[in-house]
Amino acid sequence: MTLLVTGGAGFIGGNFVLDWLAQSDEIVVNLDKLTYAGNLDSLKSLQSDARHIFVQGDIGDRELLAELLVKHQPRAVINFAAESHVDRSIHGPGDFIQTNVVGTFNLLEAVRTYWTTLAEEDKAAFRFLHVSTDEVYGTLSETESPFAETHRYEPNSPYSASKAASDHLVRAWHHTYGLPVITTNCSNNYGPYHFPEKLIPLILLNAMKGKSLPIYGDGQQIRDWLYVKDHCSAIRRVLDAGRLGETYNVGGWNEKANLEVVKTICTLLDELQPRADGQSYASQITFVQDRPGHDRRYAIDARKLEVELGWKPAETFDSGIRKTVAWYLANQDWVENVTSGAYREWMSTQYGAKS
Ligand code: NAD
Ligand code: DAU
Repeated sequence: MTLLVTGGAGFIGGNFVLDWLAQSDEIVVNLDKLTYAGNLDSLKSLQSDARHIFVQGDIGDRELLAELLVKHQPRAVINFAAESHVDRSIHGPGDFIQTNVVGTFNLLEAVRTYWTTLAEEDKAAFRFLHVSTDEVYGTLSETESPFAETHRYEPNSPYSASKAASDHLVRAWHHTYGLPVITTNCSNNYGPYHFPEKLIPLILLNAMKGKSLPIYGDGQQIRDWLYVKDHCSAIRRVLDAGRLGETYNVGGWNEKANLEVVKTICTLLDELQPRADGQSYASQITFVQDRPGHDRRYAIDARKLEVELGWKPAETFDSGIRKTVAWYLANQDWVENVTSGAYREWMSTQYGAKS
């Protein structure tokens, strides 16, 4: 049995591959382009593990996909690969359209071709699981109910619009061609191996380096935080038992304003690694210009996943953020490699022959 995971050198995909192989002997073929966000250093514990086959490549490369699918005969494809950062999508939306829309289209076509060749039993058991985001639903006011799966799509950034487009393609490939797809729409993740362009790792790294902690606008924007390993367990559960053609919202019931999140991180750092001058890390907080079109509030109603599939997050925000801060403090090598760019060399030195 084999899984094909795309984007498995990124933050969530990497955590998923590590968790999967900690619990199962099923081989994972990991296709990742290694953009700036792909980091094989996060997977170095798997460097001599025959159950992990890393391939550097693009989800838009249909020839490569056809070759991989025929060679490895996966029973499922889990699509994590994407351009994922909202701020980058504002500065340069082109890559987001290319990977998230055109790339997903090419991946769907390659998978459809492969799937039609399978024996009836394998065809029925096959799954294409598309990993998407709550941002496709747009923004909520303070009083609106959390996003349910039936909420209309109202994406506001180039990133969320490109993810919304990919969700629509996945849906259409099910309705038109019968491809056995399931989509998950998850809220903000945090945890180990998170690239320091996103709020939580950026604040942690800046705090430790004595730099300012940038808060966009008034810092009262709300996100619904989920520890990354809980996202991984939700994906495993949906892969096992999710209904075909359905979408499942994934969230942690942890709505927090950005400023509160940043202050919590500062308090934990004050406790675990106090500043030499005795001041709080909170003194490094700086308010900066807001993100254009900044969504005010995201919140996920994850009841469908709980009622239908019995999934619940294992971590609260308090337990998950403490683990995360402790992980960053204990993994300075990973942090240094990311910040110096040295992790890019990891691929040729450790995986050169394999990829
Ligand atoms: P990430 O940016 O950390 O990782 C993305 C990975 O995809 C990287 O390893 C990158 O090299 C790879 N990639 C990019 N373009 C590629 C291409 N054309 N072909 C093959 N590989 C490519 O992203 P992440 O935070 O791990 O997010 C993973 C998925 O989960 C994305 O689809 C994202 O939209 C979704 N998501 C993320 C969050 C979050 O909070 N981070 C929440 C909900 C959903
Ligand atoms: O909701 C799910 C989404 O969460 C995922 O689909 C995206 O891939 C992921 O990047 C994330 O998007 P956000 O834009 O919510 O995450 P980000 O970490 O960039 O920002 C979180 C909040 O913090 C947001 O309101 C913007 C704010 N922010 C961010 C940065 C980087 C700051 O105030 N200062 C910052 O420096």
